[in-house]
Amino acid sequence: MKIKILVVDDQEIQRVEIQTLLEAKNFEVFVAKSAEQGLEIFDLQTPDVIISDISMPGGMDGLELLEKIKNMSPETQVILLTGYGDIKSAISALKKGASDYLIKPVNFDALLLNISRALENQKIYRQLKTQEVQLLRAAKLTAMGELSAGVAHEMNQPLMAISSHIEGLLLQDEFTQNLILKNKMIKIKDQFVRLGTIVKRMHEYSGQRIGGFAEGDVKRPISDGIFLLTQQFKDHNINVILELEENLPALYIDRYQIQDVVVNFLVNARDAVDEKFNQQEGGQIRVLARKMKDFPAILAGIIDNGIAVKSGSEENLFDPFFTTKAPGKGTGLGLSVSSTIIRNHKGTIGFVSLKNERKFFYFALALDRDKDLNNDAAFHKALIEELGIL
Ligand SMILES: Nc1ncnc2c1ncn2[C@@H]1O[C@H](COP(=O)(O)OP(=O)(O)O)[C@@H](O)[C@H]1O
Ligand SMILES: [Mg+2]
Repeated sequence: MKIKILVVDDQEIQRVEIQTLLEAKNFEVFVAKSAEQGLEIFDLQTPDVIISDISMPGGMDGLELLEKIKNMSPETQVILLTGYGDIKSAISALKKGASDYLIKPVNFDALLLNISRALENQKIYRQLKTQEVQLLRAAKLTAMGELSAGVAHEMNQPLMAISSHIEGLLLQDEFTQNLILKNKMIKIKDQFVRLGTIVKRMHEYSGQRIGGFAEGDVKRPISDGIFLLTQQFKDHNINVILELEENLPALYIDRYQIQDVVVNFLVNARDAVDEKFNQQEGGQIRVLARKMKDFPAILAGIIDNGIAVKSGSEENLFDPFFTTKAPGKGTGLGLSVSSTIIRNHKGTIGFVSLKNERKFFYFALALDRDKDLNNDAAFHKALIEELGIL
């Protein structure tokens, strides 16, 4: 897409001159003969750079225009043109956030240089903005994590109270004698019991964070992860198939962290399936864990038949904050956190696309706790073989 530049000047010769020059340099140029008209065009086109004369007779001048623009859109770069000797307005222009000023008559080389500097500024500004948004999002997530632990704990109390009140009600004559009422009440009670279980699980889950490494069966964190999502898979019509090999050798793992990886994989698979089947029948998730044939390591992961990995995004999936989901839905942290966890285990993490739009998100961990799989050629060869037969 072309970079858009808006030229605001009351003098037609000046406007046309700059426009011709910039169009020759392949910019998309808009012109306005007053600040007011400039604002209208700004609304429609949101140009990247505005070049405006400061003094325009009648109406708004360039400084006021600058102020208005910077208020609405701080990232828009404004270059002002001042008359010879008008240093005072030049200084106030810079104070008000102009990226530069030029003294008339305009030297075109200087103008082009100013534009390229302004675009550079804009790039940096945008990068800082994204970082700021990402930091705020991270802070919010941390706060939400802290909150949910507390909330889960506090919700337990009222839930228990409600359950026992319902138990009490069910013993009353009105309920023992009226079957319809009684059944409804039992249904209500069941839902509260279910709420209680969810809250308990959440509380347990948030309390598990301390962890630590120990010898253990990788099937444990896998089943625990699945358990947390059982109800969701039911509600979303997702069929879960377990293919966990018996008698897997023990691994040296932090099982709560591995559980987090599994939960992240599962949640992603759920989202992918939802996006394709819309909670209708047909979604399927296969959970695998097996010893590799040609290398002393365990390969585990999840195959789903949801929407394919968005093409062009393959390289970025494991980057922090990379998400293709709507705001509020994805955080873009699941895979990046998972990748840190697996790296801490000296293992590898990745995904492959399979036949029929399915894909396998996997991690591999060596049986030998001191072995780092990441730069091991023999392992990678064995992995490719292994993935080939899926
Ligand atoms: N099973 C999957 N199927 C298709 N795309 C996936 C799958 N898992 C992850 N992705 C892609 O990777 C992106 C990053 O995933 P993740 O780091 O967990 O962040 P989030 O789920 O919050 O978007 C997702 O937005 C999605 O585009
Ligand atoms: Mg995710």
